[in-house]
Amino acid sequence: MIPKMRALEFQLMQSCNARCIYCAYEQGYPRHEGFLPLELVERTLAEVRPAWAWFEGGEVTATEASRAHLLEAMRIARRLGVRNRINTNAQALTPDSCHALREAGLEFACVSFDTLDPDRYGLLRGYPPEVGRRRLDELRQNAIALLDEGVTVDLEATLTRHNVGDLLALYDHAESLATGNRNVLMGVQFLVATYDKLFGLCPEVETMARAMEALLRRAERGRIPVRICCSPLVPCMHAGLYEHANAIWLGCTCGFDYAHVHANGDVLLCGFWDHGQPLGNLHERSFSEIWETSRMRREALAVQPEACRGCESWEGKHRCHNSCMSVVHRKTGAFAKRSYDLMVAAEAERR
Ligand SMILES: C[S@@+](CC[C@H](N)C(=O)[O-])C[C@H]1O[C@@H](n2cnc3c(N)ncnc32)[C@H](O)[C@@H]1O
Ligand code: SF4
Ligand code: SF4
Repeated sequence: MIPKMRALEFQLMQSCNARCIYCAYEQGYPRHEGFLPLELVERTLAEVRPAWAWFEGGEVTATEASRAHLLEAMRIARRLGVRNRINTNAQALTPDSCHALREAGLEFACVSFDTLDPDRYGLLRGYPPEVGRRRLDELRQNAIALLDEGVTVDLEATLTRHNVGDLLALYDHAESLATGNRNVLMGVQFLVATYDKLFGLCPEVETMARAMEALLRRAERGRIPVRICCSPLVPCMHAGLYEHANAIWLGCTCGFDYAHVHANGDVLLCGFWDHGQPLGNLHERSFSEIWETSRMRREALAVQPEACRGCESWEGKHRCHNSCMSVVHRKTGAFAKRSYDLMVAAEAERR
């Protein structure tokens, strides 16, 4: 019997309508064509009964067929008493499809936003400039359409060198949408996965810390919270950041109460995990069998870097758990090093 899971994330398909320069899902492994079968989604949800199902792609709202698949997956989740979230770039949505999503039980949408600057948006999403400009306008409208259906929307910035200066403007924009009954948050997703290309895209530690300090000060006086994922600015090194009100820090719960299912049925410790290192495959074994017998998962939960021993943030309020284990495992093949130290060392090397 597995303990209560907070979230199971299903990649319903791999293909996407964008080519983001930082995408952790573009890992050079053989591409999986087609959809994750709904029978497998249903069987796994019925077995695990997580609080939330997170559905995503690639871009799961991209085509009529993928939207139909998504709607059916959400109906299955709702029938099983599981709450529905999607992760989306929101580019292919329309007011009608937003309505259909809500009708099928969508409660929460994590919408990739990144910047309000049209040229930077095109650059980050891999579009030619004129396409990027048009798509940013559409994205703004589609986020509003989701909000007006009553869906909680997290407008999320994945933090790179290109948009680290845009956080305050994004916060103000997200806050300006929070009128009437609309439920808006701003999200900050730190870059993870350690291909050298991605480390090159990551802002310097001090730049990120300054940008977050300014953002969290703004949020303290603001009307909407900031929700922060995969932060490498760990409590032991950046304690001041954690003192701000109106911030929701999501610590690392990979392997604990969250897992990712790849479109080919592989179970991974998170979506950004090295796709060559699955725990097992749902076409071959049940989720519980995979979850309970995985040596890598056991190690991920048990191994503590020396610098983290005795730290009250390891499990506690912030559940730091060495911030990004995926980074550490890719870089070292084990879990014993502190992620923060690897990030600082990589930064020094780049200089
Ligand atoms: C992989 S995407 C899938 C859903 C959808 N296509 C989208 O872009 O929102 C889910 C989230 O992961 C973020 N993401 C992608 N690559 C990342 C990386 N290397 N590090 C951190 N976040 C990343 C995206 O910005 C997005 O917010
Ligand atoms: S981050 Fe999302 S939108 Fe961008 S390429 Fe990856 S899956 Fe597609
Ligand atoms: S768990 Fe480790 S990295 Fe995280 S705050 Fe504690 S000492 Fe720092």
